[in-house]
Amino acid sequence: MVDGRPMTHWRVEPGGVISGQLPIPGDKSISHRAVILGALAEGVTTVKGLLESEDVLATITAFRQMGVSIEGPEAGSLTIHGVGLHGLTPPETALDMGNSGTAMRLLAGVLCGQNFKTTLVGDSSLMRRPMTRVAEPLGRMGARISTAEGGFPPVVIKPTNTLKAVDEQLAVASAQVKSAILLAGLYAEGITRVTEPAVTRNHTEKMLAGFGMEIDQRGLETELEPEGSLEPCDLVIPADLSSAAFFIVGAVISPGSDLLLEGVGINPTREGVITILRQMGASISILNQRLSGGEVLADLRVRSTPLKGVKIAKELVSLAIDEFPILAIAAALADGETEISGAEELRVKESDRLSAITTGLKAIGIQVEERPDGLLITGGPIRGGRVNSFGDHRIAMAFAIAALGAENLIEIENCANVTTSFPGFVGLAAHAGLRIRVVR
Ligand code: S3P
Repeated sequence: MVDGRPMTHWRVEPGGVISGQLPIPGDKSISHRAVILGALAEGVTTVKGLLESEDVLATITAFRQMGVSIEGPEAGSLTIHGVGLHGLTPPETALDMGNSGTAMRLLAGVLCGQNFKTTLVGDSSLMRRPMTRVAEPLGRMGARISTAEGGFPPVVIKPTNTLKAVDEQLAVASAQVKSAILLAGLYAEGITRVTEPAVTRNHTEKMLAGFGMEIDQRGLETELEPEGSLEPCDLVIPADLSSAAFFIVGAVISPGSDLLLEGVGINPTREGVITILRQMGASISILNQRLSGGEVLADLRVRSTPLKGVKIAKELVSLAIDEFPILAIAAALADGETEISGAEELRVKESDRLSAITTGLKAIGIQVEERPDGLLITGGPIRGGRVNSFGDHRIAMAFAIAALGAENLIEIENCANVTTSFPGFVGLAAHAGLRIRVVR
């Protein structure tokens, strides 16, 4: 067992074709925010298309522990009986955010505004992730927030009388940090302003506006003026582009593939993976583009094409921050070199992803140079082999997809964490054409 999950390995036979139409589960980032804002709104919020993964369930459980009545999730539907900004009640125990950095950091922002003490903990991966990045700015707002030595969880938040608005220049490009400050800003006096060093996903801003908050976004600057309460909403969550990305790359790299993915969120602050794959030569058509609840979604049609290596522009890193494990597989099968730089944030994700990708690529026969802030990957034949996912869901799924272009079997160790973001991955991948089998 690892973190309460049975040790799970995958065996993926080489080859296969990814074709047909696949249902991609709901967006993880938007699902967390729907639960959080629904809980803090005054009245009933309904959600459809929610991602029912462990990460999102951790957020739901935390709000239940603080007195919010939540029905579901059932088939992606959730009904949240919001208690208002000041209606949460003290939890009896620490709030366990599982594997989810998003849940821990966003909740830290909300909890700074409460009149009771809370402690945030997580699984072995989350307990090693940096929390100073939220504790410091929230502290400047007047929050009484502390971390364990080294800036790691547990995060302890004590009640305070008033939070004050800040004008914060973020040191790291992080939507989680930006969101934590904006959520604390709901409880602060005055206008909270956050300026980021690069564009990051803006789902919090979009959803706050949808719940009736005055929020102003200009370039890298976001301002929130908290007035009144959050008004409940009926939300429909788009399919997660970060989950879709595995099958998009799968279809691109396996000759003869033709894949259709419907209703995928393509918010411009998230679509770096499409831009990068197109630069590599991928054929991805964006069809039937529409708006839902402020978010842009579309149907994506993907056909197989040969890829070429590219130098990925630093400006694209924050727009594709979760997609580098699967982009590395595309790079491994591309003609020539792919260079990733300015991506040191990948070292503090669910695993050190620069290191995990390097170890994995080498294990399946690909030449790769690990750099402090990136990777240089030389495309070549994927021999196959045994890969450690380091308990990181996106590393596991990326190397499963690599088997589509491999000469031999790929075995992946330590895959149980895939339930944190994509519980049905193995079933859907097998249905799609991957020769994948779970081994315990
Ligand atoms: C997320 C933001 C990103 C991303 C994570 C989800 C979010 O993290 O990696 O999976 O929902 O806000 P950072 O903003 O810290 O880069």
